[in-house]
Amino acid sequence: MNKVYLDYAATTPCDERVVKEMADYWNKNFANPSSIHQDGMRAKQCLEKNRAKIAELIGAQAKEIIFTSGGTEANNTAIKSAAKANAGKGNHIISTAIEHPSVLESLKFLEKCGFEVTLLEVDPYGRVDLDKLTEAIRPQTILVSVMHANNEIGTIQPISDIVSTVKRIKEDILVHTDAVQSLGHIPVHVRKMGMDLLSASAHKFYGPKGVGLLYIKKGTKMTPLIHGGGQEGGKRASTENTPAIAGMRKALEINAQNMDKEAKETAKLRDLFKKKIKEHIPQVRFNGHPKYGLPNNLSMSVKYIDGEALALRLDLEGISCSTGSACSSEKGLPSQTLQAIGLSGEWIHGTIRFSLGKYTCLEDIDYCVAALTKVVQALRNLSPLGDVAHYRQHPVK
Ligand SMILES: Cc1ncc(COP(=O)(O)O)c(C=O)c1O
Repeated sequence: MNKVYLDYAATTPCDERVVKEMADYWNKNFANPSSIHQDGMRAKQCLEKNRAKIAELIGAQAKEIIFTSGGTEANNTAIKSAAKANAGKGNHIISTAIEHPSVLESLKFLEKCGFEVTLLEVDPYGRVDLDKLTEAIRPQTILVSVMHANNEIGTIQPISDIVSTVKRIKEDILVHTDAVQSLGHIPVHVRKMGMDLLSASAHKFYGPKGVGLLYIKKGTKMTPLIHGGGQEGGKRASTENTPAIAGMRKALEINAQNMDKEAKETAKLRDLFKKKIKEHIPQVRFNGHPKYGLPNNLSMSVKYIDGEALALRLDLEGISCSTGSACSSEKGLPSQTLQAIGLSGEWIHGTIRFSLGKYTCLEDIDYCVAALTKVVQALRNLSPLGDVAHYRQHPVK
């Protein structure tokens, strides 16, 4: 059986060069970077070199980067630490209805602690409206958190415009961006974009799992979330994951070198994939912004069938993809993002997400289109609404 992996937005395989880069750190250059002996000092030097390179690649200074256990921790830290440290100035936070659960759940927690949260609506393509953002800002607003690219539908937000809109109204409101889906795939430059806080995670860009970063702009007040030995400049205690940090640096370097070319090739394959789906399967819709979208994302809704049944049947054909978003599928709740873009329940339930990557090839797409056509037809034939010909004759708007 063919095996086709189309779930790169959930996680990516570690690039072989990244695996090689990490090798020495497990049992040769393994010392604790906080130790005072020579081995420790060498580990510390490597850690700081990796930090400096990562900072350079995103347009930051080395001191502005702290390492975390991934995107979830980076988002939790950004939001809770900024809220706590700035609580004296106000208690209002603005975000959007389509953020990752690590942002939305952090905000729910803060609501229980007395903060007020406004979740902005988005347009049918998933973009934030700058006028609505302006209207939502209050004298008590201390933080605005908007993701760079959405994990379910791939829509990219106008982050620079969001930052300038916020700062024009009130300079000291902090702006945080969850860049977990974007870093390594599309340009991210913290100075040019202007945010105060940015989260990212290595396993989304061919690096190892369990490591991420938080950019904290110089001068930003933060109360640490994790207390202990004072590592990471006192902002995040715990011994640094030196192998994974080296791997993250290598992955980011590789991606920076090939980003434009890879994005173009991936988008070309994704567009071809879409075209072939449209040719073969009636009654489907594609979600996300047609222009401002991640090059690798293909979120589609198939009328009259269940997305989960579809994903499971595709799995039997050797194809890995997600229903909506792997991150929320464990809870079995209808996707908040798909609701926020105004999809009806019928479309939401028939939604699956394919996400392509640098190892996806034309044969994968052809195989997937054939399997998808077969499986959709089979599931629709089981549906009480009858066969595909019915849908052709009775198009649903
Ligand atoms: C947009 C977004 N933010 C945050 C996360 C969480 O990242 P991690 O898996 O590294 O905790 C994810 C993971 O899917 C994501 O897609």
